[in-house]
Amino acid sequence: MLLLGLLPLMLLRGCGCQAADVPEDVTAEFSVRLYHQLQITGGEENIIFSPLSVALALGMVELGARGSSLEEIRQALGYSHFREDEEFSLLSNLTQALSTDEEQYVVRLANSLFLQRGVHFNEDFLQLMKKYFKAELETVDFSESAAVAERINSWVLNHTESKIQNLVSADDFSSSTMIMLVNAVYFRGSWKNQFRPENTRTFSFTKDDGSEVQTLMMYQQGDFYYGEFSDGTTEAGGAYQVLEMVYEGEDMSMMIVLPRQEVPLATLEPIIKAQLLEEWANNVKRQKVEVYLPRFKVEQKIDLRETLQQLGIKNIFTKDADLSAMTAEVTDGQDLFIGKAVQKAYLEVTEEGAEGAAGSGMIALTRTLVLYPQVMADHPFFFVIRNRKTGSILFMGRVMNPEVIEPFDNNFDM
Ligand SMILES: *[C@@H]1O[C@H](CO)[C@@H](O)[C@H](O)[C@H]1NC(C)=O
Ligand SMILES: *[C@@H]1O[C@H](CO)[C@@H](O)[C@H](O)[C@H]1NC(C)=O
Repeated sequence: MLLLGLLPLMLLRGCGCQAADVPEDVTAEFSVRLYHQLQITGGEENIIFSPLSVALALGMVELGARGSSLEEIRQALGYSHFREDEEFSLLSNLTQALSTDEEQYVVRLANSLFLQRGVHFNEDFLQLMKKYFKAELETVDFSESAAVAERINSWVLNHTESKIQNLVSADDFSSSTMIMLVNAVYFRGSWKNQFRPENTRTFSFTKDDGSEVQTLMMYQQGDFYYGEFSDGTTEAGGAYQVLEMVYEGEDMSMMIVLPRQEVPLATLEPIIKAQLLEEWANNVKRQKVEVYLPRFKVEQKIDLRETLQQLGIKNIFTKDADLSAMTAEVTDGQDLFIGKAVQKAYLEVTEEGAEGAAGSGMIALTRTLVLYPQVMADHPFFFVIRNRKTGSILFMGRVMNPEVIEPFDNNFDM
């Protein structure tokens, strides 16, 4: 049951690509801390966010920050050991390595800074924004809050294939807002091993509180990366399963971390660490696995302002912020600070990415012989969608409440 450490040299990134050219993300630690923060405030809800996008947005702010505004960001993201400005080059390289727009899978990262009209921004700063972040810069008048909200929302809509709507509202702005940063993340991928829609069935999902709901469960038996782990104590409820399912193209994968049936996810969550993500990825082993996974759709809007402050990034949100590298002149009473930082992420996991019709019913569970490990995600699980080459975490989250369907409903949603 304990595979950890037995296969440390499993070649997972062996795609023939030159590892030397592949930038390596360093923000896993930050990502996990962010997750834990959301978990603390998240009750029994689903979680979905994009650590990568938060890192990119903060990178843009960092470019204009000085003093403790700068130091807090470097510290929180794990750039302290970098040479000055090295992180910008890395973020730029990562964006380039990750972005794809192919038929099989799409990763889109869009960043934008909305700047108050009339404030003079530093030309160097604007140039570097474009150089490193391909950022779209736009000047607006925040005192016209309804118009600004509409403008920002349409920008977001435009960068997420219309999946994310109404990110902000007019009340989010006041005449003292000087800058708003927005990031949009969009990912669509097809499984390398797709689920057959006709194998999807109504199935019972047991939530952490013990209650049961009916959801649509996908099923397949196929070759996946799989491992059973244990932290060596009973803290996480003993052994748990990790399943890595790759997307077409094999650069991206989703890792699903599932506690034992009777163990709440809340028991497992505290042990999740950046280093552990790496260990899972390096130690899962390709083998035949039986997979039961709910079809799910998760969406969440996060106020990063609150969350980032908990992680030590405080200064940029206050009147003491030093964003002096952004402005060409110092104007009394017009000190810049970050007014709002929000993120809305959306993820839909289906059999193949396309919708398919299927019958409803129950999966027959009678088995006489168990040939392969079985991953039965009929209770809450944690997931990570990452790039297997750079280690970048595009999404991280958990499913506590799958989409509930009515019993005997013959129609799949949509
Ligand atoms: C980013 O890529 C360029 C070009 O390949 C390289 O010279 C530079 O060292 C990379 N930066 C980092 C921080 O890896
Ligand atoms: C939407 O995106 C396209 C392509 O990125 C761009 O040409 C267009 O100007 C955008 N529209 C808005 C409203 O941002």
